Amino acid sequence: MRLKDKVALVTGANSGIGKAIAERFAAEGAHVAVNYRERANNAEVAGQIVKSFPTEGMTVAGDVSKRDDVERMVAQVVAKFGRLDIAVSNAGLEIKKPFLEVTDDDWNKVLSVNLYGSFVVAQAAARQIVKQGPGGKLIFISSVHEDIPFPEYASYCASKGGLRMLMRNLAIELAPYQICCNNIAPGAIATPINQSVLNDPEAMKNALGEIPLGRFGRPEEVASVAVFLASDEADYVTGSTYYIDGGLTQQVTKY
Ligand code: BGC
Repeated sequence: MRLKDKVALVTGANSGIGKAIAERFAAEGAHVAVNYRERANNAEVAGQIVKSFPTEGMTVAGDVSKRDDVERMVAQVVAKFGRLDIAVSNAGLEIKKPFLEVTDDDWNKVLSVNLYGSFVVAQAAARQIVKQGPGGKLIFISSVHEDIPFPEYASYCASKGGLRMLMRNLAIELAPYQICCNNIAPGAIATPINQSVLNDPEAMKNALGEIPLGRFGRPEEVASVAVFLASDEADYVTGSTYYIDGGLTQQVTKY
């Protein structure tokens, strides 16, 4: 068990990559707080995820783009488990739109969850970790698009590019507290965010043509790297981005 008795908060953990990370952390012995945003049947889904854990976990409702929500979530985790060791900032969204049509509302929605949300989660978690004493892990779920462009996703790319620099800065600023900060940059992973591509054979063909390993990744394949980064084995790893993309970012021009 690589995370025995650690306490972790995973945002956006009711589906996709966040869910896989929460489940894997619990399987590795961690107490995991599963964050979800209150809407539709998210609370029920989050509750079922926690019930399936072999360890004691909890659900925490809240919108990461609201500071009060995030601070309350961290306080709830500490009230129940007495500490926080690992925060995974995973909640995110993307809006596809040609740049000339992007509205302020689109832009602000994406930036407020993906970038501002990550800032607040990292800050609230780090303040708690600093209070406890040395050691802790901040993991940001970024994207290959923290580095490579994605036409019609300007706001998403800007948020992930910002996340790259946020993480690198925090790696330095939080190093005196032995808090390690790293990004995981997934490529095309089979999750709800990619459902429209997964359902469209033509789009799938184009997408697979850009992935050297020739397939979409699985959420569990992202979770396995998250376990490493959250574990004591990664105590000397900080300031890096880990690409989990089947080689997507190494693609060469083929003509
Ligand atoms: C995006 C997906 C996209 C993938 C690879 C991810 O960050 O969320 O929509 O398929 O990057 O381009």
